[in-house]
Amino acid sequence: MQKITIDISKTAGFIPDGAVLKLEKDVLAQQQKLHDKSGAGNDFLGWLNLPSAITASEIKTIKETAARLKSKADFVVVVGIGGSYLGARAVIDALSDSFDHLRTNRQNPVVLYAGQNIGEDYTYELLDLLKDKSFAVVVISKSGTTTEPAIAFRLLKELLEKKYNTAEVKERIVAITDESKGALRTLATREGYQTFVIPDDVGGRFSVLTPVGLLPIAIAGIDIDKLVEGARDMEKTIAPGTPFSENPAAVYAAVRNLLYQSGKTTEILVNYQPKLHFLAEWWKQLYGESEGKENKGIFPAAVDFTTDLHSMGQWIQEGERNIFETVLSVEKPNHKVLIPSDKDDLDKLNYIAGKRVDEVNKMAELGTLVAHVDGGVPNIRIVIPELTAYYLGQLIFFFEKACGISGYVLGVNPFDQPGVEAYKSNMFALLGKPGFEKETEAIRKRL
Ligand code: PA5
Repeated sequence: MQKITIDISKTAGFIPDGAVLKLEKDVLAQQQKLHDKSGAGNDFLGWLNLPSAITASEIKTIKETAARLKSKADFVVVVGIGGSYLGARAVIDALSDSFDHLRTNRQNPVVLYAGQNIGEDYTYELLDLLKDKSFAVVVISKSGTTTEPAIAFRLLKELLEKKYNTAEVKERIVAITDESKGALRTLATREGYQTFVIPDDVGGRFSVLTPVGLLPIAIAGIDIDKLVEGARDMEKTIAPGTPFSENPAAVYAAVRNLLYQSGKTTEILVNYQPKLHFLAEWWKQLYGESEGKENKGIFPAAVDFTTDLHSMGQWIQEGERNIFETVLSVEKPNHKVLIPSDKDDLDKLNYIAGKRVDEVNKMAELGTLVAHVDGGVPNIRIVIPELTAYYLGQLIFFFEKACGISGYVLGVNPFDQPGVEAYKSNMFALLGKPGFEKETEAIRKRL
């Protein structure tokens, strides 16, 4: 099997000569801090050995549960927000047929998402779709009280209870939550739902390789053994003891911090495969929530190319020079489509007739790389041999480990998210939640 690789050659000239080598010792020391559990947030490091820690029997139970839900339901709604849904969606979108939900010969249920927003129209339309469909729910919340998924789950549970008897409702709900505490654990115990545990020492955004990600991914028909195998191989590749230059996570952490120190305060994750859109959403949460604190942190943004070259391309080429790009470059597509020849050639495309669509995509990628570097945008390239479960597993663990190292290099605790609470308490006060009476008056005056 090949490995995901990183190419930093197009950052030369944007960071001082020799700076990467100078940072090498510090980066490896920060990595060691993760493994020694001697840094900030060290009670949230359970993700660090998740790939090798997952047991065959855990995977078997996840697969059996997925098979049961698949046999029962045409639609499975994954209820969760942030780290409780983005990893699953990233992998499912990356590895599923883009039009599977429209095919009549589908092998797997359609996976839908709820509780990741509070849009009333979205909620109405989802419930309206499901009212005469066979569906099941996987509800994922570590705390069990997050407003968005709690509202969605209340509504979906009510709909299930209207459609099915108590025993059947129980068969159609799986809860993934804390081992012993929280509202969802209490409800699941009372109602007898099947449950999976989100380990105490794994934060939401690092939880894709727990049942949080693995169950929805298995329901979508994706090979979770291969995903875990890829993550496991990456865990070995970037383990302590690997020389810096052979450790892509250490190299990525070093270079993005050096670019940040050179004034490149926004990182744009670029893909040339629309299937990777949600991988970028997952990555944005991983890095944004881990690093954006104490008035520090690279702003993580993302674009889908070539689509966004026709909207954001101008800004990237000539706007403020505070950005760098990290390109997810997939070497080999899974399918082959040739561009046909046309006798009239009105669109003047015959010069590429007979070529693969991917060849055009690759030339767009290389052309953009040179144009953006010429325009003052440094470029990191992450090369993924193919879009398969195995390589996605590698990629996920690579980004997680690099995030932990990078946060430590930046000097923050990458494993907390204190800032997320600010909007919540204001919202609770405005909604009149008991216990927030004092804040309600103060906030109303500010509006
Ligand atoms: O990464 C995180 O910790 C957050 O994104 C949470 O996953 C998100 O807020 C959902 O929380 P919970 O799973 O408790 O509902």
